[in-house]
This record gives sequence, C-alpha cells and structure tokens, in this order.
Amino acid sequence: MKDIVIETGIQHSVVHCGSGAYEKYAYALADRQIFVVTDSNVFAWYRYEIWKTFGDEVPIYIVPAGETGKTLRNLTAILKGMLKYGMKRNCTVIAFGGGVVGDIAGLAASLYMRGVHLVQIPTTLLAQVDSSVGGKTAIDFEGVKNVIGSFYQPETVIADPRFLTTLADREIRCGLGEIVKYGALNGEIFDLLERNIGNLTSLEFLEEITSLCIQHKADVVIRDEHDLNGLRKTLNLGHTTGHAFELYYRKKSHGEFVLIGMYYELYIAEKLNTCPRNYSERLKKLIIDVLKKVPAYDDVEAAAELAKFDKKNVDKQISIVVPKSIGESAELKLDLDEYIKMLKECAAQLKERK
Ligand SMILES: NC(=O)c1ccc[n+]([C@@H]2O[C@H](COP(=O)([O-])OP(=O)(O)OC[C@H]3O[C@@H](n4cnc5c(N)ncnc54)[C@H](O)[C@@H]3O)[C@@H](O)[C@H]2O)c1
Repeated sequence: MKDIVIETGIQHSVVHCGSGAYEKYAYALADRQIFVVTDSNVFAWYRYEIWKTFGDEVPIYIVPAGETGKTLRNLTAILKGMLKYGMKRNCTVIAFGGGVVGDIAGLAASLYMRGVHLVQIPTTLLAQVDSSVGGKTAIDFEGVKNVIGSFYQPETVIADPRFLTTLADREIRCGLGEIVKYGALNGEIFDLLERNIGNLTSLEFLEEITSLCIQHKADVVIRDEHDLNGLRKTLNLGHTTGHAFELYYRKKSHGEFVLIGMYYELYIAEKLNTCPRNYSERLKKLIIDVLKKVPAYDDVEAAAELAKFDKKNVDKQISIVVPKSIGESAELKLDLDEYIKMLKECAAQLKERK
C-alpha cells in the first residue's frame, strides 16, 4: 500500500493505493454524514459492500451506467437528493465508481453549499490511474463533452485493485491505454511496461503500475493544477488523434482510441524526426500488446477533421503531444493538411502490413 500526497495551493489530497486500501480507509469514513453516488452496474456488483461499509440506510444516488449518465439532469437529481437527505456543509460525497461517477459526483460536491468533502473510490482501472486524481470534474452538455465542470480536489482517493477483478476485459484495455500513455511520459513506467509485456493484464502488475501512474499524475498536477503552464497538457499525449477517431468511429473504448491515436501520432513524430525510430518501435510494441491490431482506417480524412476541435489547438494549427525520448515528450503544431496527409500515410502503411 502506498500513500501519495497532492498539495495544490489551498487544497490537500491523499491517494491511498494498493491492496487493502479500501478495508483500511473506507470503513473509517462511516461515522461521517455520507452521500454515495454510484452507477447502476457498480451498484449491482457492490451494493452489499456499500451497505456493509457505510450502513444500509446510507443515501445513494445511482447514475445510469455509461457516458450518458454525465448529464445536467443527473447532476440536479444528485443535488436534490442531498438537500432531501439534509446533507450539511461538513458532509462527504463518496464517488463510488468509474470516471463517469467520479466526474459527476465531484462536480456535485464542488457545488453543494459551495463545496463539501469529496472522497473518490475509483472502481475502474482508468479511474484509478487517471480520472480520480487531479481534481477535474465535469458533465456533458448540449452534446459537448465535459463542457460544464470545475477544478475540485478530492480530500481522499482510495484506489484498491480489489475492484478490478469484476471489470470487463475491454475496461482493463481502456485503463491500459492511459497506462501506456504514462509509459511514453515516464521512464520508470516505460521500463516496467516493457518488462511485463505479455503480462499486462495481471493483477499484480496492474497494482504495481497503478501507483507509479498516480504518482506521475500527482507530480504533474502539483506543478500545473489548472492546466496553465503546458505541463498538464503532456497528459494528453495520443489524445488529439485518439479523440478525433473516437468521435468519428465510436466503436472502441476511450483508452483503446488513446492507443490508436498514439500509434498514428508516432508515425508523424518519426516522420518529423521528433521521435527516433527505435524508441517509436518499442512504444508500438506495447500498443500492439494491448490492442493486438491497430485499425487501418479508410476515411481518415473525415475523422481527422474532427481534430480541429481539440482544446490544445492554437490558431488554425493542430496540436499533438508526442514522445521524444524515454521520459520526454514534445508538442508539435501542424497545419491540418499536413496532419491529414501523414495520418493517411500511416493508415496506408497499416493496410499494407495486414
Ligand atoms: N476527470 C478527469 O481528469 C478525467 C480523466 C479521464 C477520463 N475522465 C472521464 O472518465 C469517464 C470514463 O471513465 P471510465 O472509463 O471509468 O468509464 P465508466 O465510469 O463509464 O466505467 C466503465 C464501465 O465499467 C463499469 N464499472 C465500473 N467499475 C466497475 C467494476 N469494478 N466492475 C464492473 N464494472 C464496473 C461501469 O458501470 C461502466 O459500465 C469519461 O466520462 C471521461 O470523460 C475524466
């Protein structure tokens, strides 16, 4: 078990990670006034755990599972529930679930009475290595993802691998997408990933790498909490193209698209001599180990057009964050035509290799 402290300005967060973290820290919260937010799948798997830990009368709001749960309607319902159950200023909202639950419960906690205690108990691999840490909260609105939100650090995060045993393979791959991304940003994580190729889904490995990923994210958040000086932007490696493909093709999970985006962007980084070939090949090997196969998309052009909306872009150029050397990344800014041309070349190369 490991504790990682995140001090940002006036807020202080502790992440307890590893086996036994839930047993040790969740039960200790039971004497507070608690409001639990979870989703329908997680409730089905873990309702007895929730009742056992926080009491069978604990107020719970259950968001429908999946991205469609991150709505203003559910946010309002959570806030109404908190009022109805007489939640006080010193109450604690417990986000018990994946990134969707963490994002909407975090936003509710930041709004209710101008902010109450927030504890994140992330139950997906993606939420453990990424979304529960760092204090970004959000809902989707008018079809735009994460457009209403706040920065609000949880007081505590309890990331226990016990919850990963009930996750679908696809959700494990989704978390691994973000983990491989961390590998492209951090030499220690890269090394551990390479040493475990072929064994990336084992629970022991996931437990070990999760704490390294959380530590990496914590170090970035401490230095750039509000995404202002460019450092937090590095966590977006692979995401420009990944998001564009995700919006267009929709068939895979977010983390899988991060890996696909990384693969295509590595082609660009090699072409522009930003990432040396031998390092790029080592990263691609990790990507293939998780995905087995990278899709050779036909209509890359239409999909890539969607990268125009990426939040990192300045003026009309497309911004991508790519690996440069072990533990180092670089931001590239490309004209849309040039960007599309290289993605098409990458797709053609993938097709040839089929
Ligand atoms: N705030 C941030 O910094 C940040 C960062 C990355 C992603 N996100 C957000 O996170 C969300 C994605 O998170 P996610 O991938 O965890 O998705 P998710 O919360 O939708 O969970 C994925 C699926 O797994 C199920 N599930 C959760 N825990 C389970 C468990 N232990 N056993 C069985 N099933 C379980 C859920 O019900 C859901 O069906 C997106 O909305 C994204 O925008 C936020």
